[in-house]
Amino acid sequence: MLPENIHDSGGGNTRPWDIEFRALSAGYGTHKVLDDITAVLPGGRITVILGGSGCGKSTLLRHIIGLTRPLAGTLLLGGADIFSLGKTGFRRLRRRMGVLFQDGALLGSLSVVQNVTLPLSEHLRLPKSLVREAGLRALRMVGLEEFADFYPNQLSGGMRKRAGLARAIVAEPRVLLCDEPTSGLDPVTAARMDALLLSMSRRYASMTTVVVSHDLASLRTIADHVLVLGKGRALFCGKPAELEASPDPYLRQFLQREAGEVQDGGWTPQAPAVTTALEQWLQR
Ligand SMILES: Nc1ncnc2c1ncn2[C@@H]1O[C@H](COP(=O)(O)OP(=O)(O)OP(=O)(O)O)[C@@H](O)[C@H]1O
Ligand SMILES: [Mg+2]
Repeated sequence: MLPENIHDSGGGNTRPWDIEFRALSAGYGTHKVLDDITAVLPGGRITVILGGSGCGKSTLLRHIIGLTRPLAGTLLLGGADIFSLGKTGFRRLRRRMGVLFQDGALLGSLSVVQNVTLPLSEHLRLPKSLVREAGLRALRMVGLEEFADFYPNQLSGGMRKRAGLARAIVAEPRVLLCDEPTSGLDPVTAARMDALLLSMSRRYASMTTVVVSHDLASLRTIADHVLVLGKGRALFCGKPAELEASPDPYLRQFLQREAGEVQDGGWTPQAPAVTTALEQWLQR
């Protein structure tokens, strides 16, 4: 079965796609990272996926994109099981997803506007001028139009992320997935990224947005819905206000940014021979 709107134009009147996990287990080979995840990320809304480093946030994102198959369970997008679609159905579905990778993932040999329009220039037969105009439009939305002809290495980290966002939305996706869009950004630039995500979500009412983040400020600004992962499980799935009110000690600790019991990585003294060699080298 294909999602009911898979052939639609992506306009504002179509029903947004929920993303649903049913008893989903995910991992790599015999290494199970997530177990028995059952949750719905509501269509047309922004869901923030929260959780400690290494808990499986990016892994879950890879599954939504269809890059990795679940170990068990199902993943439904707009009601369709993405891993039981045929090649054509999957390709069609994949076209409706925009992804902002952690570092923007821009190609260094292409200009900013060429990067942004890749999803169009690769697949559509359109006059170059039209493709460029679409790229400039997306860049305008993220405030980077004047940098269209720069190369990625001429941009700051935050600008690269914004350019990555422009590329993710240029083909008007039904599902926008962002992996840590604010990490490594200063608070002002991070707040600007949040504002952008919010305005994109409002502009494209039928777009379902999933944002992986560690950033609590961002959670409080953009989230309509939250999924908290930890200990290989879905610890919470619901509205931000419910999360803030939760008495669960782990969730409270996470929200209050408490360190908990910090385990010393196991400091051991340097071998004397190394210390001596280092000292000699520093005095050389
Ligand atoms: N390609 C891979 N092959 C094997 N194991 C992997 C692979 N990618 C991730 N893992 C493992 O899966 C687990 C979860 O990794 P993942 O990248 O999903 O975490 P994360 O929650 O995104 O962490 P972070 O917040 O640091 O980005 C880790 O134990 C990691 O070692
Ligand atoms: Mg990650």
